[in-house]
Amino acid sequence: MRFSILSIFLVHITPAAVAPCYDSSPVYPLPNLSHDIPELQDVFDSIGASLKQIVSDKAFDTSSFSVEVTSSQETLWSSHHTASERDNSRVGAETIDGRSVYRIASITKVFTVLGVLQQHAAGNLSLDDAITNYIEDLIALAQSDLINGLPNPTIVGLPPLPKKGLIHCYEYSGYHKPCTEKDMLDFIKGELPLFAPNQQSTYSNVAFNLLGLVLENVTGISYTDYVTSAIFKPTSMNSTTLEKPNDKFAVLPKGKNYWDVEEGVQRPTGGIYASSSDMSRFLRYVLTQYNGITSALNWINPLSFAAGGNSFYGMPWEIFRSSRILDRPTTFITKGGGVPGYFSYIILIPEYGLGVTILVGGELKLLKQIREAVTVPLLRAVDYVTMSQLAERYSGVYVSGNGSLNSSLTLAVDPDSRHGLVVREFISNGTDVLSSLLLRLALGDDADKSWRVQLIPTLLYRDELAQKGELWRMLVVLDRTGSEHGIWDDFCNTDVDQPRYAGKPLNEIVFWGNKEGHAVEAELSAFRVKLQRKPTVQQAGLKAQKTLENTNHQI
Ligand SMILES: *[C@@H]1O[C@H](CO)[C@@H](O)[C@H](O)[C@H]1NC(C)=O
Ligand SMILES: *[C@@H]1O[C@H](CO)[C@@H](O)[C@H](O)[C@H]1NC(C)=O
Ligand SMILES: *[C@@H]1O[C@H](CO)[C@@H](O)[C@H](O)[C@H]1NC(C)=O
Ligand SMILES: *[C@@H]1O[C@H](CO)[C@@H](O)[C@H](O)[C@H]1NC(C)=O
Ligand SMILES: *[C@@H]1O[C@H](CO)[C@@H](O)[C@H](O)[C@H]1NC(C)=O
Ligand SMILES: *[C@@H]1O[C@H](CO)[C@@H](O)[C@H](O)[C@H]1NC(C)=O
Ligand SMILES: *[C@@H]1O[C@H](CO)[C@@H](O)[C@H](O)[C@H]1NC(C)=O
Repeated sequence: MRFSILSIFLVHITPAAVAPCYDSSPVYPLPNLSHDIPELQDVFDSIGASLKQIVSDKAFDTSSFSVEVTSSQETLWSSHHTASERDNSRVGAETIDGRSVYRIASITKVFTVLGVLQQHAAGNLSLDDAITNYIEDLIALAQSDLINGLPNPTIVGLPPLPKKGLIHCYEYSGYHKPCTEKDMLDFIKGELPLFAPNQQSTYSNVAFNLLGLVLENVTGISYTDYVTSAIFKPTSMNSTTLEKPNDKFAVLPKGKNYWDVEEGVQRPTGGIYASSSDMSRFLRYVLTQYNGITSALNWINPLSFAAGGNSFYGMPWEIFRSSRILDRPTTFITKGGGVPGYFSYIILIPEYGLGVTILVGGELKLLKQIREAVTVPLLRAVDYVTMSQLAERYSGVYVSGNGSLNSSLTLAVDPDSRHGLVVREFISNGTDVLSSLLLRLALGDDADKSWRVQLIPTLLYRDELAQKGELWRMLVVLDRTGSEHGIWDDFCNTDVDQPRYAGKPLNEIVFWGNKEGHAVEAELSAFRVKLQRKPTVQQAGLKAQKTLENTNHQI
């Protein structure tokens, strides 16, 4: 009789277990990152030394850079370098610092999209509208035409052609005359789209010129006035402009550069001048607001695939996922920009509430080396700090206050496989739940495999108003043993919404904490039990964890 009831239960829970995932990538409650955490100080010292080493290469004698790392609250670290070889014919910023201004080129697109999202939220336009609602004559603009850059096209096998019939602005005018809206209208009437709408995505400059015109159309003010009043002012980006700033703040790399180029109608695609400390202010805004700008979307989510297995297009984010820094996937929400002389990058790592700005005046190769040298050690150190804080806040043994009830829960931060918080043991009323039929059956076909129970924060609260009672879910995750690894084992669609028991989710766990945010009580909702955290045990666990992490990652 007992088994037949369980069999019925089995029927109900099996569908949830169809696709158990090896790689359930956890979102943690955000770590509390501050500049005085010793592990972060250490990693910043070491990154600073790497950057010094990198710029000691003679190839970078004419390059300057600014790098800043920010949490969602404060700038954690910055490093600036002034090129040893300067342009003596023109004086720019004497010593590069957080206020020095670079051209951020295509990072401008982020501001253009933010403007469009704000206008959607204000009801002035809809993201579903056709562009022709706002620009009757749909226009486009050719950029990067080699006829303007190659003195002799026949050297690369191109036929010699006259410039007759082409537009007479921007690069076609030697940058003496920016393109106007009318120039573009006149030029491109007959152009065809690159792909059919919604068919395939690729990089586009034209799209953002168009969005800039849409913003002007719906707000009735210029693009420049709009982003200045609606974005730069409220985020205190007080060195950020679309007009060329005073040379005394300018990072002016030696040789050909775009400092003086007026982008005209192309301002929305690449026109902004900004400093690294302004970009940190902006990244803090994005880190705290990205899911609240409009109810239409979460701004940092991907919209379509890019080429390769690790890249995605957002709005206008360029998204990268890699398992090669930690041994599970990490997501980087980025946007890069480049014009001659200026190469820039912003990176958001939302899982940790982190933002990175890299601005280079000089060589593109330098930007790439800085990006690698900063992000890889930074992420490992921040993950270690996050895990330590997770252990401090949640790990240990939780027991029933009722002496006659044999119920307890043991939580630990998994030090080697880096899966965050896992359930080591769960005894309910004298029954070992992890080895009971309940969980075994939840695994269906995979019951013979090795697995763990991972805790996943939902970032919601039982009492949202008071922000009390953190709601988490337990998820059974298969361990990758290495022996057999099928192609489809990388497929990971999880179902966190598991079956209920008497109306309460079987896998829900609620943490009730003290003022410092440390858990003091764990409530297993379906089991109708609250267990109290023993204060002593987790300390030992944390130490062990620290030692292990240190050897793994040489922080
Ligand atoms: C974050 O850490 C800082 C010190 O590093 C501390 O002063 C602050 O109270 C912490 N904040 C929270 C919310 O725990
Ligand atoms: C916006 O675009 C529409 C369609 O092209 C046009 O009729 C309208 O006059 C424009 N409004 C402004 C303020 O430019
Ligand atoms: C919406 O459009 C109107 C008129 O075009 C403009 O005055 C207003 O500022 C816009 N709203 C926002 C929030 O920008
Ligand atoms: C810009 O803002 C920062 C921070 O609010 C302030 O310290 C700085 O003096 C301001 N700079 C200018 C030029 O107003
Ligand atoms: C303690 O647990 C026992 C056994 O489950 C139960 O009978 C009793 O009511 C509980 N006492 C309290 C105060 O919850
Ligand atoms: C504990 O299990 C016993 C049966 O073994 C049952 O009578 C009792 O109600 C259970 N108590 C709780 C709190 O689950
Ligand atoms: C509590 O239950 C577990 C699992 O059945 C058992 O191993 C343990 O001895 C029990 N503890 C007590 C104090 O009864």
